[in-house]
Parts: sequence; C-alpha cells; structure tokens
Amino acid sequence: MKHPKIVAIYGSPRRKGNTAALLKKAIEGARDSGAAVEEIVLRDLKISPCLEIYGCLEAGECAIKDDFQMVRDKILDARGLILASPVFFYTVSAHTKMLMDRFQSLWVKKYWVEKAPRGQKTHNRKGLLISVGATKGKKLFDGILLSVKYFFDVLDMELWKALLYRQLDFQDDVLKHPEYLEEAYETGKAFTAAIDG
Ligand SMILES: Cc1cc2nc3c(=O)[nH]c(=O)nc-3n(C[C@H](O)[C@H](O)[C@H](O)COP(=O)(O)O)c2cc1C
Repeated sequence: MKHPKIVAIYGSPRRKGNTAALLKKAIEGARDSGAAVEEIVLRDLKISPCLEIYGCLEAGECAIKDDFQMVRDKILDARGLILASPVFFYTVSAHTKMLMDRFQSLWVKKYWVEKAPRGQKTHNRKGLLISVGATKGKKLFDGILLSVKYFFDVLDMELWKALLYRQLDFQDDVLKHPEYLEEAYETGKAFTAAIDG
C-alpha cells in the first residue's frame, strides 16, 4: 500500500502532556515510514457521552449527531489506530471513554442489526495503545488494557502493541526519558510496516 492510513487520537485533556509527547513521536515515526496520519485531538471536539437511548437499534447509526460521526468514519477508513490516553482511575481518560462508548452503536450494528456471529474474531486492522500513569503498581494498566482490547474488537482491530510507561505524572516528566520517546518513534515506524503488510 502506498500511504497506509493511520488515525492518531490524543485522548488526554492535557495538550502537551506525556501521552501527547509520546504520540507525537509515534506519529513522526509513522510518517517517516510513509504513513498518512490523521491527528484527532479529542478535547477540541464535541462528543457527547452515550445516552443509552439505543437509537442505533434501527440501523446501527448513533442518534446523537456531533463530532462522533466524523471520528468514526475516519477510524473505519484507516488501516491502523494509535490511541493515546493517560490512566485515569485505572482506565482511560473521560474524553477517550466518551468516544469509546459511542462506538456501542457499531457493536449494535454488528451483532444486533446485522446479526454477525458472536465470538468470532474478525481482526483485519491494527491498533496501538500508548498510555502512562503516575504510579508504579503492577496492576496500573490492567484496566485500560481490558477496556481498549474490547474497544478494538468492536473496530475489528487487534491490539498490536501497547506502550505503557509508569511513574510519569507532571506534564514534562516524559521529557526526562528520551528512551521512551525513541521507543515511541521506532514503534510508529514498526506499526506502519505492520499495517502495510
Ligand atoms: C483524573 C485523574 C485520574 C488519575 N488517575 C490515576 C490513576 O488511577 N493511576 C495513576 O497512576 N495515575 C493517575 N493519574 C495521573 C496521570 O495518569 C498522570 O499524571 C499522567 O502523566 C497524565 O498523562 P498526560 O500528561 O498525558 O495527561 C490521574 C490523573 C488525573 C488527572
């Protein structure tokens, strides 16, 4: 593929925080490898939480009209997704969670409207997760990994890799770890090669 499409999502409310810096590096790596990367900053968008009204039962289309449809269409059109979110209370940030919950409409489309058989993995695209947390607990990323894995499932995406960094709290903490930024850059390159395959 000439320029495989990747969507990169900034899920932190902090514009210049740790996940944003890591994501920027991953994007740089992906672009250097020829990917066409579309950047989406969730805090700049208007995305309502899921209201559980199940308007999507009719045709799998979310009844709430806002920026979700634009983000969804870009993601569905891409070969890969890079999702960057800090750990907030052991899961993704609220901005990220609001986006994820709106994809319930896609789940409904797939399993209730189109009646796809359950339990069959149809992964034909790839996702990369970038996350950081302030503490160093063993279970720090357990929650986010579970949430994101099932979110990616709905998108027919395999969780290809997760870059997870502990003990990053203040905005610039990641800058003290050039090795993390380098790893993000290299992973962006490798991700492009993987989705291009
Ligand atoms: C609302 C909120 C909840 C948080 N919850 C956790 C947590 O459960 N565990 C943890 O280790 N850090 C937690 N943190 C710290 C962030 O993960 C940390 O500051 C991170 O570096 C922020 O990433 P960012 O710079 O990309 O926004 C929390 C921070 C906020 C603001």
